[in-house]
Amino acid sequence: MQAPRGTFDVLPEAESRYAAIERICGGILGRAGYGRIETPAFESTDLFTRGVGEATDIVSKEMYTFDDGGGRSMTLRPEGTAPICRAYSEHGMHRLQQPVRLWYMGSFFRHENPQAGRFRQFNQIGAEALGSDQPALDAELIVLLAEVLEAVGVRGCELRVGSLGSPERRAEYRVELAGYLRENAGRLTEDVRNRIDSNPLRAFDSSDPETRKVMEAAPRLADFLDAADAAHFSEVTALLDAVGIRYTVDTALVRGLDYYTRTVFEFTSPALGAQSGVGGGGRYDRLVEMLGGPQTAGIGWAAGVERIILASEGIDVEAQNQAVLTVPLTAERLADAFRIASELRRAGFGASTEVTGRSLKAALKHADKTGKRWVLIVGDEEASLKDLSDGSQTELEGPDAASVISMIGRE
Ligand code: HAM
Repeated sequence: MQAPRGTFDVLPEAESRYAAIERICGGILGRAGYGRIETPAFESTDLFTRGVGEATDIVSKEMYTFDDGGGRSMTLRPEGTAPICRAYSEHGMHRLQQPVRLWYMGSFFRHENPQAGRFRQFNQIGAEALGSDQPALDAELIVLLAEVLEAVGVRGCELRVGSLGSPERRAEYRVELAGYLRENAGRLTEDVRNRIDSNPLRAFDSSDPETRKVMEAAPRLADFLDAADAAHFSEVTALLDAVGIRYTVDTALVRGLDYYTRTVFEFTSPALGAQSGVGGGGRYDRLVEMLGGPQTAGIGWAAGVERIILASEGIDVEAQNQAVLTVPLTAERLADAFRIASELRRAGFGASTEVTGRSLKAALKHADKTGKRWVLIVGDEEASLKDLSDGSQTELEGPDAASVISMIGRE
C-alpha cells in the first residue's frame, strides 16, 4: 500500500528540517510578540464557503468535504485565516489588548493536481494580527515574513506588493473589468470566459498567451483606489523603504482568496519551478464581521513549509543557527567544554560537547557532518574558535562563554 496521491511521509532525516523551521520561525515570531495558536484540522464547511469565497478555486474545487455522520458538513481546513477569525470571535479576543498577534504551524488540505511543490496535504507556517488597520502593522507582517524566510535559508526571494482597496471600489472595478473582458471575449480561453461574471479578476492569472495580451491592456484596480486606500498603501511602502526591504508594486497581484482588502503581498523564489509562491498574505478588514463577529481589521500571511524546504535545499539551517561544538583537547578540559556549552545554550545559542573522546581532527569532521558552524577547542592554556564556514581560527582570551559569544554574536 502507498500513501495517498499528493501526500508524503516525513522520515526522521527530513523531520529535523521541519523541527528547525518551527523552532527558528517560532523564535522570530515569539520575540515579535506573536503567541502560538492551534485550531482544529477540520471546521464547518460554511466557515470556508463564507470566508474564503464561493467562487474561489479553493472552495469550488479543492476542499475535502465530508458528512460527519450526524448530517453536518465538515471540511478539512484548506487555509488558516478563516479558522483564526472564528477563534478570535469565539473566545472574545476583541476584549484583549489590540492588536492580537498570533502564529501557527500545521497541516492544510487542498484537492489540487499534485506536482513539484504542490501537495494535497501540506504544511503552512503563518502569522495573523487582528484588531488594527494601521499601515505599520502591514509593514510589520511583511518584514516578519522576510525575516523568517531569510532565517530559514530562503534567499533571493522577490517580493510583490499591491493594494486591492475596499470591497466597494473593487465591486465598481469588477463591473468595469467584466465589461472589458466581454468586449474581448473572443480572444480569451474558455475557462476565463466562463468566469467573467463570477471571478473576472482571475483572468490576470491566466498563462494563455493571447489572454495575457488582452490582460496587459485591461483596466487596473490601482486606478480605482480611493484616496484613503491609496494613502494607506503609500504608508506601507514608505515603511518598507525605511527598513530597506526591496519590492515591486504589482497592480495586478491577485491572490486566490476573496477576503482580502487593501494590502496584498507575495514572496516568490526563483529556486522553485512553476509553483514559485513561497508565502503570501494580505489585509482582511471585513472577514471577522463576515463570519458573524465584531467589526475587526486584520492582516496576515502564510508560507508553505515544503516550499521553504525546496527553496533552501543545500543550506544547513542548523549552521545558520550558529551551532557550536565544544571540544576538550584533554580529558581534564571536558568539564570546561561541558560548562561552556551549557552557558551558550542558556544564552540562546545551539551548542553541544564532544563527549566521545574523538581526536581533534575527527571532532572537526564530525562537527562539519552534523551541521555545526563553530568549533571551540578547549586546551590547557588556551582556547580557540574555529569558523567552519571559512576555516579561520581565532585565539580567545579565556575559555568562557562570554568570549565565544563576543565572536559568534557578531555574525
Ligand atoms: P495561500 O497563498 O493560499 O494563502 O497559501 C500560502 C502558502 O501556502 C503558499 O504561498 C504556498 O507556499 C503554500 N501552499 C498553498 N497551497 C499549497 C499546496 N497545495 N502545496 C504546497 N504548498 C501550498 C493562504 O493560505 C492564506 N491563508 C494566507 C493568509 C494569511 N492571508 C492572510 N493571512
